[in-house]
Amino acid sequence: MPTFDTMKSARIHTHGGPDVIVVDDVPIPEPGPGEVLVRVTATSFNPTEVAVRAGLLDVALPHTLGWDVAGTVEGEPVVGWIDGAAAEYAVTTADRLVPAPRAIPLADAAALPLAGLSAWQMVVEHGNAQPGHRVLVNGAGGGIGGFAVQLAKHAGAHVTATASPRSAVAVRELGADVVVGYGPTGRFDVVLNLVADAEVARLGGVVVSATRCDAPGSHFVTRFDPAQLTALVALVDQRVVVVDVSERHGLAHLPELHRRAEAGDLRGKVLVTP
Ligand SMILES: NC(=O)c1ccc[n+]([C@@H]2O[C@H](COP(=O)([O-])OP(=O)(O)OC[C@H]3O[C@@H](n4cnc5c(N)ncnc54)[C@H](OP(=O)(O)O)[C@@H]3O)[C@@H](O)[C@H]2O)c1
Repeated sequence: MPTFDTMKSARIHTHGGPDVIVVDDVPIPEPGPGEVLVRVTATSFNPTEVAVRAGLLDVALPHTLGWDVAGTVEGEPVVGWIDGAAAEYAVTTADRLVPAPRAIPLADAAALPLAGLSAWQMVVEHGNAQPGHRVLVNGAGGGIGGFAVQLAKHAGAHVTATASPRSAVAVRELGADVVVGYGPTGRFDVVLNLVADAEVARLGGVVVSATRCDAPGSHFVTRFDPAQLTALVALVDQRVVVVDVSERHGLAHLPELHRRAEAGDLRGKVLVTP
């Protein structure tokens, strides 16, 4: 009988509610040609994984959760966006990873890839935030919003952010000039929308939205870009961008995190460590 070294892996074998997430013992994966083995230090929770779990996005089953990864490859700290990071080890191609920031704990770097790249692509890539621009970040209390506020401020914009009382102080500390409650009013040069089904078309000139909203043509889909992630890492190391972790949990808490996300009970970036 062959013997396998095993690891913990948070997987779904079927689609459904949060309880379909189970922590399995599975063999540690073997990297194939062109692949590397990542020893996972942390992944982070992203709300789009709720859609994966529920069956609204197509994945092969069983499916290991976790896109963001911070960990080590042959002892070197890396950060990236892969499949199956909610496990003790994951296999990926090296082009999905970049060197991790050195200025923060390695686990915290797992907050960066998906949310940070989303913010980068909304704020920086198309020059949406220019010095003096009035920028609204709608949904600044969430994972993307925290990075969007910081990147827009760094670009020299005047940033108005929406946040409920639980996130208002954190959002202001990340650099927002003005913090208002849900349902903002006024006019802005740029609206960065992170709230599903928001009515934001009336608020501004350029609208960029990570979710469905009432502004036609505003929706964008985040993609992995190693150069952009490297640039973000550099800003973290220069302490221009702060990685603000709101909670830390083990793999076994993923069902609870999904339940809380569906109830609107999560804020900021939540880390999950195997
Ligand atoms: N298009 C893409 O490629 C793409 C990529 C990544 C994510 N997304 C989507 O983008 C959205 C944001 O992602 P995320 O990771 O930042 O989400 P998140 O961390 O789950 O955002 C949660 C935050 O949303 C805020 N919020 C909820 N309802 C709000 C409202 N009516 N007005 C203002 N803020 C509200 C809450 O802020 P308070 O704490 O202030 O209450 C909460 O902290 C999600 O819907 C996600 O699925 C899309």
